[in-house]
Amino acid sequence: MSKGLFITFEGGECSGKTSVIATLCEILKEKGIPFISTREPGGIKIGEEIRKIILDVHNTAMTPETEALLYAASRMQHLKEKILPALEEGKLVICDRFLDSSIAYQGFARNLGMEAILKINYFAQKHLPDHTIFIDVKPEEALKRLKNREKIDRLDLEEMSFHHKVYEGYLHAIQRNPDRYLIVDGERSLEEVTQECVFAVLNWWEGR
Ligand code: TMP
Repeated sequence: MSKGLFITFEGGECSGKTSVIATLCEILKEKGIPFISTREPGGIKIGEEIRKIILDVHNTAMTPETEALLYAASRMQHLKEKILPALEEGKLVICDRFLDSSIAYQGFARNLGMEAILKINYFAQKHLPDHTIFIDVKPEEALKRLKNREKIDRLDLEEMSFHHKVYEGYLHAIQRNPDRYLIVDGERSLEEVTQECVFAVLNWWEGR
């Protein structure tokens, strides 16, 4: 049993996760709560290198299977090198995306199926988050937001149907494990969304 608390944020493109996490981290710092904030794919040197390969717009030849395996490889390194040691030290770990992203994106949107994703993430499944916040932004709204974004990566270039499948994948992942999830309406103002997330995280930390 780990002594810390592992919280992940999930959502489709432009759900506002990254902005929410940035404000959350400022508040955690002010309150003196021991925490780390990290992300997937990435978070550590090997993971960030894998991230570059996966998201490179020139890598159009990458198969869905390769993509899924690279995410799983990055995740395993990330867990062992950064997340598990921080939990062992009693820290709060805030992670932008984790296994549920692979279920939604590779399992559903890339049609590999949930079972295949769970198999290749066998080791990570032993270290699921304590809580997951899903920032709920419908695919239509996400695409509107995506059009205003300056930096586009390979996954942003996907069709509307891809984003719909991602959304559907998340709903399946949530159904599979409803107690772990907090669903936050992400179509409100960023302030409101952030407030709800911060409130939940502080409550979980105090009640751990
Ligand atoms: P980001 O937009 O949150 O930085 O995530 C980068 C992209 O990687 C995003 O389009 C979602 C995608 N992704 C997957 O497809 N599978 C995964 O397992 C993870 C962690 C991310």
